[in-house]
Amino acid sequence: MIASAPGKIILFGEHAVVYGKHALVSAINLRCKAEVKKSGEIRIHSKFGTTGLDFEVHPYISFAIKRFSEFRDLKGVEVKIESDIPPGSGLGSSAAVTVSTLMALNEEFNAGLSREEICEIARKVEIDVQGRASGIDPFISTFGGSWLFPDMEKFLVPYSFFVIYVGEKSTSEMVSKVAKLKEKYPEVMEGIFNAIDSISIEAYRRINDPKSVKDLISINQSLLRGIGVSTPEIDYLISKLEEEGIVAKITGAGGGGCIFGIYEGKIPKNAFIIKPELEGAKIEDT
Ligand code: PMV
Repeated sequence: MIASAPGKIILFGEHAVVYGKHALVSAINLRCKAEVKKSGEIRIHSKFGTTGLDFEVHPYISFAIKRFSEFRDLKGVEVKIESDIPPGSGLGSSAAVTVSTLMALNEEFNAGLSREEICEIARKVEIDVQGRASGIDPFISTFGGSWLFPDMEKFLVPYSFFVIYVGEKSTSEMVSKVAKLKEKYPEVMEGIFNAIDSISIEAYRRINDPKSVKDLISINQSLLRGIGVSTPEIDYLISKLEEEGIVAKITGAGGGGCIFGIYEGKIPKNAFIIKPELEGAKIEDT
């Protein structure tokens, strides 16, 4: 059985969303495919290698199998992963691996889990691996589409984006860096988070107006720089793009990862183009 699930891009509101503020997030047309077959033993194949149940090399798949075996007795299974989503880039590769594996397991073993149940198990897997998590990635990967969090309002995005990968990043490092600043300057940081909150709401209202969305991308990037999650490399890249009239911001945790902006017909150097994706996790025809 083969299932696939999309990655995601945070358009606005990263970090502020950790403190209960609004964020806009879209599923993207990069997907992870999981092929699952009943077998005598557990085997996991991916570009990281071939292992058994291995919580170091394949943490998300291993916890997905472990959590799934609470629903269906599972002696052995072979899982093969193929993904378009660069790992560690903030584009939701971990959630897409988890959700596609769970959806394929559900079909292969006739477990009868609903989409909501698959999403909930994926959320638990994310917590198993990361300790804490907002649950946004598994939700987007399961259901697809573009959403305003935490209100759960769905919307359509009428354009594509360019994305530039700027290197590995650590979400937990960035989240704790922001938490330290928040501890030291609670009022200052609350002010910035409230500004980011307004940006997300304003962008939701003006999503059909790319010019306004570009203004908001630029303001949000300045605030992300303010809370210490940009890097000299990202600042340099963004200022170079500005010289060409292109605006961009970090997507996700920062400290590396990816930057993105609205695609308007000119592909910046080293960029790839992604489209918002309506379809969530699905069974693939074999
Ligand atoms: O790990 P990433 O790059 O997809 O983004 C994390 C987003 C944060 O807001 C920083 C953390 C979170 O859990 O929402």
